[in-house]
Amino acid sequence: MSDRTEMRREGRVAVITLATPPVNALGASLRESLARRIAEAGSDPEVSAIVLTGAGKLFCGGADITEFGRPPQGIDLNGLNAAVEGSAKPVIAAIHGQALGGGTELALACHHRVATPSARIGLPEVKLGIVPGAGGTQRLPRVVGPRKALEIITSGNPVGARAALETGLVDALTAEDRLVADAIAFAERLIAEGRPSPRIRDRDDRLAEGRDDPGLFDAFRAENAKRFRGFEAPEACIACVRAACTMPFEQGLAFERETFLRLVAGAQSIAQRHVFFAEREAAKIPDLPADLPLLPITRVGIIGAGTMGGGIAMNFLNAGIPVRIVEAKAEALERGLATIRRNYEGTARKGRISATDVETRMGLLAPGLDVEALADCDLVIEAAFENLDLKREIFGRLDRIVKAEAILASNTSYLDIDAIAAATARPERVLGLHFFSPANVMRLLEVVRGAKTAPAVVATAMALGRRIGKIAVLAGVCHGFIGNRILAQRQAQANRLVLEGATPQQVDRVITDLGLPMGPFAMIDLAGLDLGWSRETSKGETVREILCERDRRGQKTGRGFYDYDEARKATPSAEVEAVIRAVAARQGVTQREISDEEIRERCLYPMVNEGAKILDEGKALRASDIDIVWINGYGWPVYSGGPMHWADGIGLARIVERLRALEAEHGPDFTPAPLLATLAAEGGSFSAFDKARRKG
Ligand code: 3HC
Repeated sequence: MSDRTEMRREGRVAVITLATPPVNALGASLRESLARRIAEAGSDPEVSAIVLTGAGKLFCGGADITEFGRPPQGIDLNGLNAAVEGSAKPVIAAIHGQALGGGTELALACHHRVATPSARIGLPEVKLGIVPGAGGTQRLPRVVGPRKALEIITSGNPVGARAALETGLVDALTAEDRLVADAIAFAERLIAEGRPSPRIRDRDDRLAEGRDDPGLFDAFRAENAKRFRGFEAPEACIACVRAACTMPFEQGLAFERETFLRLVAGAQSIAQRHVFFAEREAAKIPDLPADLPLLPITRVGIIGAGTMGGGIAMNFLNAGIPVRIVEAKAEALERGLATIRRNYEGTARKGRISATDVETRMGLLAPGLDVEALADCDLVIEAAFENLDLKREIFGRLDRIVKAEAILASNTSYLDIDAIAAATARPERVLGLHFFSPANVMRLLEVVRGAKTAPAVVATAMALGRRIGKIAVLAGVCHGFIGNRILAQRQAQANRLVLEGATPQQVDRVITDLGLPMGPFAMIDLAGLDLGWSRETSKGETVREILCERDRRGQKTGRGFYDYDEARKATPSAEVEAVIRAVAARQGVTQREISDEEIRERCLYPMVNEGAKILDEGKALRASDIDIVWINGYGWPVYSGGPMHWADGIGLARIVERLRALEAEHGPDFTPAPLLATLAAEGGSFSAFDKARRKG
């Protein structure tokens, strides 16, 4: 076994370095190696204290997630922590970058912790659908108190070193660039003082808060009910922290372990781990050379200061990138700028940014009414009305104005990027950058690669996505790309189901019961029923057309598929139900009672089927990319892993069987995609398909 740690001596202090790049994950060989080093240092008479530190950019990224679900090997993390905690010589964790999960638990088993001011310390296990499994839920409350521990553990968000110092989670801050030297000096002081090494497990004083106020846990659960909805792990975290307050240490540790093992084998954690790796996979574009030089993006131009253009601009301003924003009319430009300012001021009121940040960001924004102002931008994003002719005209103009090496991008959600690129003399510099509304909030960015888009342009767009805090997913040109193409399938079925007798609220409830934030009809009401509709061309035949004609255009008119009150609370509408009944009668559709199960299958299986087509056509690189799109663009719950992972869980054979039955009843909308049928026949899965594609 290759050695995964390094050890050196500085006077009476042994410095042990975790050295398993890239994140010093505590896999079997690192655990083994570290346990051996601790024993060696323990028995070396020349050593009086031990400093533990991490090589590279961080202390430790926690347990090796790839080991989950496999048979345990060698010493486990609790065993390692017991060895560290039991060391007769004081062990000091010297933390830089991040200490996460098992890395934090290791640090908590040490007798002292020092950290650089920029370090961050956290227990992100809940984000993987598990509880900390190596003492985190038992030791952390003993340091910071149960209430604070509940916050840290159930949010999974790391705390900064300064906050950690205030709560006693770290004992001292070092100089930013003198971590190990300062940690050694700290150790030497301990040696000189010769006091016994404190163990967190022995500290019960901070637990009083949870013992004296057992209602603390119920109150915490109630306060966070919305955030925890649908997830199993937060409740399990609460139970473990409560166990820390009610059980002796060893018993609490055993309870935590049992809970960890139950959750790690469960469907939610498997889904959340899938998402963790899927997010990282999405950044990898196999045909792009790793060393491809990126194009510099120092100034961005945006055409359109409406909701989309303004939201897109904010992403760049937040990242410190200057933006020129252009609108056709002064009034619209003013309105757009005012909205951006209002958004920032709202964020400042919530304390998330300072008043100075608001001005700095607004200061990076240069408004204008003339496209000529975009000439020196490195990237121009068009966020104009969704009309191909209009976009082609804009691109033709931009091509003549903007410097030759600049990238021109369209934020279109459906249209043909190749047709837009063809309006320019630089199709290799044209691509789609599809942001999701609200663009300053939603994490997804579909990077749409045209037939002629140059590799460096694709690589630059993917990297830029990361720079502005988005999850970028590569999509090929097709109507609606990955996300909206799949959404269209669900919408078509939802429309059909209400004609056949389901109500909009029933369809929406079935979808929200799966953990999505809203159903198809609530979504249309939010977007506006009149997108792409006009009174002149309306035939007044479909439910949607009739509702538009009656000025039921969605939330913005206070009425759509639902009626809305001033607080935007939706109530079902008898008028809408009557319209639906009338349209059904006109089309000769007999209405009947429709089960929730039928709605689930008819709305979701065609989505999976469309996903298979998208994959087969190479419009998405991986099934897991489709999951990332749906989680980050449409709110698919992370605990069921996205539509393709969800489908794997049901079994592709079962889905194909149901699609065939639906095809027999309702026609070719349900015909299984060839790839889906093949995978089902082979007993395959989307995850196996991805793996095979990765291997090439
Ligand atoms: N186990 C295995 N692999 C890991 C890992 C881990 N804990 N953390 C990161 N990796 C891998 C990533 O998959 C990626 O692999 P790739 O290059 O093949 O795609 C590589 O390491 C680099 O990771 P990132 O791209 O995420 O690197 P960043 O520098 O952007 O971020 C990080 C570093 C903040 C440490 C981030 O990787 C992260 O958040 N990791 C997960 C941390 C975590 O959840 N830890 C808890 C684990 S569970 C646990 O400890 C259980 C315990 O309580 C018993």
